[in-house]
Amino acid sequence: MPEGRAAAPYVPPFPPRPPRRLKLGQLVAAGRRNWLAVWPAGAFNRDVIFTRILFRDIVVCNSPETVAEAFVEQHEAFQRKSPQHRHALAPLLGDGLFVSDGPLWRERRRVVAPVTHASRLPELAPAITEAAAERAAAWRALPPGTALDVLEEMGRLTAEIICRTIFGRALGAEAAADVVAAFAEYQALVDQTDLISLLGLPDWIPRPRNARLRAAVGRIHAVVDRLIADILARGAGEASLIRAMAEAKVPGTDRPMDARAFRNEAIVLFMAGHETTANVLAWACFILSQDSASAARLRAELDAVLGGRAATLEDLPRLPFARAVIEETMRLYPPVPLLSRQAIAPGRIAGREVKPGTMVLVAPWLLHRKPALWENADAFLPDRFLPGAARPHRHAYIPFSVGPRVCTGQHLGLAEAVLCLATLFGGVEMELVPGTEVKPVARLTLRPGAALPMRVRPRA
Ligand code: HEM
Repeated sequence: MPEGRAAAPYVPPFPPRPPRRLKLGQLVAAGRRNWLAVWPAGAFNRDVIFTRILFRDIVVCNSPETVAEAFVEQHEAFQRKSPQHRHALAPLLGDGLFVSDGPLWRERRRVVAPVTHASRLPELAPAITEAAAERAAAWRALPPGTALDVLEEMGRLTAEIICRTIFGRALGAEAAADVVAAFAEYQALVDQTDLISLLGLPDWIPRPRNARLRAAVGRIHAVVDRLIADILARGAGEASLIRAMAEAKVPGTDRPMDARAFRNEAIVLFMAGHETTANVLAWACFILSQDSASAARLRAELDAVLGGRAATLEDLPRLPFARAVIEETMRLYPPVPLLSRQAIAPGRIAGREVKPGTMVLVAPWLLHRKPALWENADAFLPDRFLPGAARPHRHAYIPFSVGPRVCTGQHLGLAEAVLCLATLFGGVEMELVPGTEVKPVARLTLRPGAALPMRVRPRA
């Protein structure tokens, strides 16, 4: 055990687990509040769960084997996003690749994936370093002990980063702040449990949409349209992933995507590329404020490697503990805690037939805390991810999903999270505002509640 390490590892909060399966009424009521709270303790160790809720067959894949069956081997049958997911996001993303499937998804994926590929990192990382350094300087300049909402701060930081990388560096933080506010509002308004879909009723039944939801979508569209118009008006010179996407040809043709597709994919990138990373960073700050031993180990690494300056892409190989903190944070609090699909063709999972229409679920929330896969599964133990430790099975640790629909920005997101954590945490002490109760809440992503108030003070 490393020197100074507390004997008992820190166990960050999770909702109480019901002793047995909830009845339908309880399930719906609890699920609407926070679906993380519906899983009985026994569910975490199951390999697969076949169930039926009213008219809907559901399969939960919770072992590396069944995850591979569903998301890798039978991608064709199980590639469609669940109705809940599609209905929650379609008003915002239209036919964007995040919610599409079949030939359209394949076509869009082949345009969008190269834009966010790991090979783009050297081009994008300076903007990450720059934005993180600016935020760190702003924190250090605050009167010592100022309370900040770290969740909101991280949302603004990652939105600024995505603006600078995807939309070009010239676009300011003001546009990003607008979009973050509108996205937060959108998420709060979308009903994740979407009762109509849960009951197995068809897609064409209209979902209730209120004026505020439409207004939130309108605000996001307006900001993104403005950003795109700005970039395209600038002509050559300003490198941006939007421009790269605009110049790419639709596979098998010599034409670019049309304007509507272009806007939808831009919103996909914005949506997929900032809130996930923001949530990981917020969770990591919270955990480090509670786990003083891990915080001390991280500080020692940052002092030795960075000595107070901002982290760059070249520093990454020398920040193994910072990376391990991020990876372990994503194990316990996977930013996308539920991956849900709807079977569009018959298939088989764990030897049993799966009929078209069945909901096929993979819940990183369950898989990442499965006692049979992880020793001391609920404890925060970053050593699991240090070089030299055995890497988890590739279908047991899936914060970025797996198979053909894997996150296209996985290398970018991981590098961004490590660089931001290293740059911010190196310069300040962070303390949770006393009396704050932090609870994981799942909507589209997994957040530490509605806000994360923390006091920051510059390090002596
Ligand atoms: C820590 C950060 C991130 C995490 C944990 C994450 C996680 C995920 C997950 C789990 C999915 C699959 C969702 C599903 O199947 O339902 C996904 C999809 C996607 N992500 Fe990420 N992501 C992150 C950052 C990013 C970034 C930075 C970008 C791009 C700038 C990005 C772009 C995408 C896209 C385009 C998809 C849709 C892929 C498809 O459906 O084919 N992500 N992400």
